Amino acid sequence: MVGEQSEMSELPIVRTVAALRTQVAAWRRNGESVALVPTMGYLHEGHLELARRAGQERRRVVASVFVNPTQFAPTEDLQTYPRDEVGDHAKLRSVGCHLMYAPTVAEMYPNGFATRIGVGGEAEGLCGAFRPQMFGGVAVVVTKLLLQVMPDVAFFGEKDYQQLLVIRRFVRDLDIPVAIEGVPVVREADGLAMSSRNSYLTPEERRRAPTLNRALVKAAQRFGQGACQSKDAVDAVLDQARQEILAAGFSKIDYVDLRDAESLAAIDHFDGRSVDGRSARLLAAAWLGKARLIDNVSVASLRG
Ligand code: PAJ
Repeated sequence: MVGEQSEMSELPIVRTVAALRTQVAAWRRNGESVALVPTMGYLHEGHLELARRAGQERRRVVASVFVNPTQFAPTEDLQTYPRDEVGDHAKLRSVGCHLMYAPTVAEMYPNGFATRIGVGGEAEGLCGAFRPQMFGGVAVVVTKLLLQVMPDVAFFGEKDYQQLLVIRRFVRDLDIPVAIEGVPVVREADGLAMSSRNSYLTPEERRRAPTLNRALVKAAQRFGQGACQSKDAVDAVLDQARQEILAAGFSKIDYVDLRDAESLAAIDHFDGRSVDGRSARLLAAAWLGKARLIDNVSVASLRG
């Protein structure tokens, strides 16, 4: 429960920038602070955890629900992406969210829309290599949402770890006056990271899916034990994780990689503590049936 609202409070839905700004301006006149939780809907506990945290410290919470076409390639799942606006509204209402912003595609991208944002640095490699259009599209829509709401703080999940770093980067680079808060991955009881795309999995695939997380946790433990002080040793641990993922029935691995947790720079060896005083992150993306699952774990935090 966030803010002062009870479970029975109404949750207004606005669909235009003008209506959104009218509500936010009223809160601002009242001296209230405002938090934004951007989502593509089909909400689960991971999203709701973001909304709960956003509502701490008496902040007003705007949750956006918008399946953003510019971050999907033509071959990707824009058309089949799961949607449930009624369910999303009920869930956001149950956690005390104050405003649901669900714009149409025409409201966000009116005819003639032609602006792109080029993202480099953290956006290169990993998902950026396999979904080249994605982070540019995320940068455009998140920049628009931030400028539409002008929140004090916006919340993003570590589930999409690279996305979180890309967002921190363009917010810093473009001097957007907002604090970006990261929230740890929310998981199912068996370790599978919650994701709207988990709905693509058949029951049999769902049974196999937690192997992605299990393989990462196991590899991270081996790194955490300090056994990987050469590039070959790191590669052997990563290869073992890849084999476990494929053995569980995943059809294709996009990447399993050990990276610097702040810059996403490649890491050749890991001493079990840190790389030049920084921690490491193990990130993966792999295909199971129709679903492309991503996950990541911190290496440093797994040291005893
Ligand atoms: P979506 O996949 O709906 O995720 C919305 C937010 O919820 C993201 O910040 C994501 O990291 C977070 N999230 C999703 N699953 C989570 C989990 N299991 N634990 C913690 N946080 C989780 O990410 C997007 O939408 C879009 O790219 C968006 C940022 C909204 C731009 O269109």
